[in-house]
Amino acid sequence: MEFKNIRLEIKNRIAVVTVSRPDKLNALNESTLSELSECFGFMRTDVGTGIVILTGAGEKAFVAGADIYELSRLNEESAKLFSERGQEVFNAIENFEKPVIAAVNGFALGGGCELALACHIRLASENAKFGQPEVNLGVIPGYGGTQRLTRLINAGRSAEMILTGELIDANEAYRIGLVNKVYPQAELMTRACELAGKILSKSAFALKNAISSIAGSAGLSRSEGEKVESALFALCCSTDDFKEGISAFFEKRKPDFKNR
Ligand code: COA
Repeated sequence: MEFKNIRLEIKNRIAVVTVSRPDKLNALNESTLSELSECFGFMRTDVGTGIVILTGAGEKAFVAGADIYELSRLNEESAKLFSERGQEVFNAIENFEKPVIAAVNGFALGGGCELALACHIRLASENAKFGQPEVNLGVIPGYGGTQRLTRLINAGRSAEMILTGELIDANEAYRIGLVNKVYPQAELMTRACELAGKILSKSAFALKNAISSIAGSAGLSRSEGEKVESALFALCCSTDDFKEGISAFFEKRKPDFKNR
């Protein structure tokens, strides 16, 4: 598929989506957001896509935020739509039925940090920097940041990032659980592909249901979330992949999942 502000490359069932507006540090304008939405829509049904790696073009930025030039034109009415549109696109990523790994290769600020938070797993390069600097512009995060950051790391640390707008480096992001691993920049994509390959060897049906259970129960009470988990667990037990996984265990061999 051809896009203007993003690139999509699919190889060995790994789809690499690269946000590419290097002269604006890959800031998300409306058309980039729409392209991301269209791209994820395509990958959802594309049988050649088993897993997604999301990254930014160049060595400086993952995504440096929502586009501040577009932000500057908002009024109260259009700002609400702006925020809701971003939330819709990021919710679709969080609820995407195939795993999404963020390979954070530089600045992940504002909407860029929120985009990384919407992914299921975050890997970072050593030069990555994370932050919610919206308060410096007199606003607050509007693409789900106040919700996801607070759930992912502890509430006090999340409030500190959002209230001070200060950036943290990759090691601090690792220390507080914001990213899973930190690698030298030159290794980041290789390591992300290795992780993607490892996950791809599992049953796609189990992966899809694991994501549904994690993401789908985010806003639910503990007991409601457990009901969702039980239903999806039961669904998995009706599959050929489940039979194959159990047989492989008893036969002391690697499972060969057919994803059905
Ligand atoms: N929206 C639009 N353009 C952006 C942008 C954003 N979020 N972030 C960076 N850019 C643009 C800059 O305006 C500049 O464009 P120009 O060359 O046409 O002037 C270009 O990207 C390079 O950025 P620059 O600021 O010159 O790079 P730097 O290395 O000095 O600083 C940052 C890098 C990330 C610290 C700085 O660009 C920054 O603070 N960006 C805004 C981050 C932010 O507040 N994001 C949240 C928005 S809600």
